[in-house]
Amino acid sequence: MFGGTVDYEIAAPRAGALVESLRGFGYSTGAAIADLVDNSISAGARNIWLDCRFDGPSSCIALLDDGVGMTEPELRNAMILGARNPRDARGSEDLGRFGLGLKTASFSQCRCLTVASRRNGVTTVRRWDLDYIANSPGDEWRLLMGPRPGSGHLLGALDEQSSGTVVVWEALDRITAGMLAGDRRSEDAFFQVIEHVERHLAMVFHQFLDGKDPVRLFINGRRIKAWDPFIRSHPATEATPAEVIPAADGGVELQGFVLPHKDQLSEQDALKGGGTQGWAAQQGFYVYRGGRLLVAGGWLGLGTPRPWTMEEPFRLARLRVEFGNRSDATWDIDVKKSTARPPRQLRLRMTALAEIVRGKARDVFAHRGSYGKRESVTDLEATWLTGSASTTARYRINRRHPLVAAALETPADRATIEAALQLIELSVPVERIWLDTAERGEVSDRAVVAEAPPELADIGRSLVAHWTGRLGMTSDEARRRLLSTDPFHSYPALVEGLVMNANVTKAGQ
Ligand SMILES: Nc1ncnc2c1ncn2[C@@H]1O[C@H](COP(=O)(O)OP(=O)(O)OP(=O)(O)O)[C@@H](O)[C@H]1O
Ligand SMILES: [Mg+2]
Repeated sequence: MFGGTVDYEIAAPRAGALVESLRGFGYSTGAAIADLVDNSISAGARNIWLDCRFDGPSSCIALLDDGVGMTEPELRNAMILGARNPRDARGSEDLGRFGLGLKTASFSQCRCLTVASRRNGVTTVRRWDLDYIANSPGDEWRLLMGPRPGSGHLLGALDEQSSGTVVVWEALDRITAGMLAGDRRSEDAFFQVIEHVERHLAMVFHQFLDGKDPVRLFINGRRIKAWDPFIRSHPATEATPAEVIPAADGGVELQGFVLPHKDQLSEQDALKGGGTQGWAAQQGFYVYRGGRLLVAGGWLGLGTPRPWTMEEPFRLARLRVEFGNRSDATWDIDVKKSTARPPRQLRLRMTALAEIVRGKARDVFAHRGSYGKRESVTDLEATWLTGSASTTARYRINRRHPLVAAALETPADRATIEAALQLIELSVPVERIWLDTAERGEVSDRAVVAEAPPELADIGRSLVAHWTGRLGMTSDEARRRLLSTDPFHSYPALVEGLVMNANVTKAGQ
């Protein structure tokens, strides 16, 4: 097809302009460092050390690994944009795909990227310096062959290893914008970014950090602990059986999890379970490629009849989706390794499983974790009776609850009434109300029922009698007070009627 003479001209990208544009991939610092960790894991590293040093605009980040390292030609090639063709087959353990990550991730965070690699006892260094490229004549892709002047010590640790690689980021203009050396606030802000990075790595690589033969990942000397989105170590976590769907490209594995209700978690676990974004935002699918997390939550555009959105009642639903790098094209993964699109042939199955998991998660959420064991909570013990068939009182306080019953006895003592009130305050069925509101669009019974519930008249009458009798209020004062009392303020006609009747009764006395 391309035989014969063809007219052409070379239209190579302009180095200075392109490297600047490549900075705009939109990586977060965590996602950018994860891209470096990918490379280290692919190189067989067992230990990875992330070193983040704050020094205002001279801060730097270095990632050292004990992987196989690179020879000089390999390192040179690794530094080239498009180091490998994305269409090439890769080893099953290789987390790379595009031949870009090292460069795009690094440029997104820094203007000076140095890579030193050691193989067979020989260390080689290469460096991209965006300022040097910008000022180099001829707009050439000049790859520098040594460390930044004065920065050689940052590569020193490599020489103590037989093989490995260190990636150094200097001129971290994006991270340190506006920061000053020796300034406390700047330092705090810098380490806040690093803390976020730590949590991101703990999540993205949790399968590696937690495995039988774990990869050890350190951040400023501290070992990062894995964050399991499915809290599998907790006995109250429910899991559907893992389901393998075979396909020519290796297929996919699916599994659903319903996480424990927060009442069943320790305060610390409840906080930790919310991950980097919080419980509601962490619901949905967790998509892994070669054991590395690409997508942490969200419903991937699935859902019937409309795509599901993140909603509070489904906060306990999380699903695991795993495939290998042979499925990259099927799942349409991106350079940042942060998106994946479920292929058409899997969408139905994934939606069906998610529907089951969402249903269960919703029940656990609504019943404060007592779903499935509900029978053991008798009406006598429950403070609130919910889901009553009555249209006027969906959430009722159980008068037969021992404490409530005691408070209703005459004469009830102050302590008992206070105890009953506390009990009621503690047990408001918030989730249940939330669910009804979210699913049925019911804000509250009062708001939709224009007519006052019949029992309200009696309560109002005794209140007015109490105020005008014992407290000596005038009927007008009682009327105003009642109009500003919840829920009477919603029923002015009822209030007027009550006060008028009270007057008539009084006059007739
Ligand atoms: N820490 C490392 N140890 C050994 N080799 C590395 C290391 N980092 C990068 N390489 C080599 O450099 C190449 C280019 O890395 P780069 O991250 O740019 O692309 P990739 O990993 O191939 O694909 P992707 O763009 O999907 O990340 C890698 O394929 C690998 O051969
Ligand atoms: Mg890579």
